[in-house]
Amino acid sequence: MLGKAPTLGADMVFLDLEDSVAPLEKESARDNVVKAINDSDWGDSVLCVRVNAWDTKWTYRDVIHIVENSSERLDELMLPKVQSAAEIVALDMLLTQIEETMGREATVGIEAQIETTRGLINVEEICAASPRLETIIFGPADFAASMEMPVLTGGVQIDEYPGDHFHYVFSKILMAGRANGLQVIDGPFLKIKDLDAFYDYASRTHTLGYDGKWALHPTQVEACNKVYSPTQEQFDRAHDILEAYEHATGTERRGAVMFGDEMIDEASRKMAIKFVSRGERAGLERSPVTDD
Ligand code: GLV
Ligand code: MG
Repeated sequence: MLGKAPTLGADMVFLDLEDSVAPLEKESARDNVVKAINDSDWGDSVLCVRVNAWDTKWTYRDVIHIVENSSERLDELMLPKVQSAAEIVALDMLLTQIEETMGREATVGIEAQIETTRGLINVEEICAASPRLETIIFGPADFAASMEMPVLTGGVQIDEYPGDHFHYVFSKILMAGRANGLQVIDGPFLKIKDLDAFYDYASRTHTLGYDGKWALHPTQVEACNKVYSPTQEQFDRAHDILEAYEHATGTERRGAVMFGDEMIDEASRKMAIKFVSRGERAGLERSPVTDD
């Protein structure tokens, strides 16, 4: 798995020391992760390691071992089950000391998982806790466990519930993340073989405004890239809106103009630039502009 990960076309990869590693393997897993970071070509994927949560005995050694022994190719650490802003501050302070001791040039970023009830209650303070924070992530499996929901698979549709039982959670995390300029990511979908259901679930958070979702399997990477990237049509339309708006505000000195049968203004520009930056990241190029 560690060998295959760099080849899958994911925007970001995290190597896990937490729940996918058995307690008896926690210590030996650290060296496997360091070796994978230092020996593989990770292309332009963001590279991250998920350490164990602060309520275990492993966190401090995970952080010290990984950051001291990894090359600067390591971009970020992911902290799971974050319950309070203090947990982020503690990781930030530890990282600052390691970076200074090792003479590390680039700072290590932090991704935080919200997957407990206390974490959700404190998500606004958590998202504002450190300039190192880059991303906030929802963890549906642990969250279902923390809520004591009567389910045996976290993060899938509960047919008995009339609506989406995670709608409030999705929205609350998204707002806290955006208010602090963070990327906001949806967590895992555990029924790996059910790709249709994966598309359904990914589309929900995509529609709300999330930037992406975890993939546990190569087929989910492909599905994620499809769902969270704009279509060619959206990409072209976003460019057209930006062009029309630039002409309106620059040449015509007008803030709001008609674009086809709708009005566009500064808010339209803000919406459009997101489609352009996401499309460029996905490798889209603007279609040739025609006269009609
Ligand atoms: C991810 O870590 C989750 O618990 O869903
Ligand atoms: Mg979890």
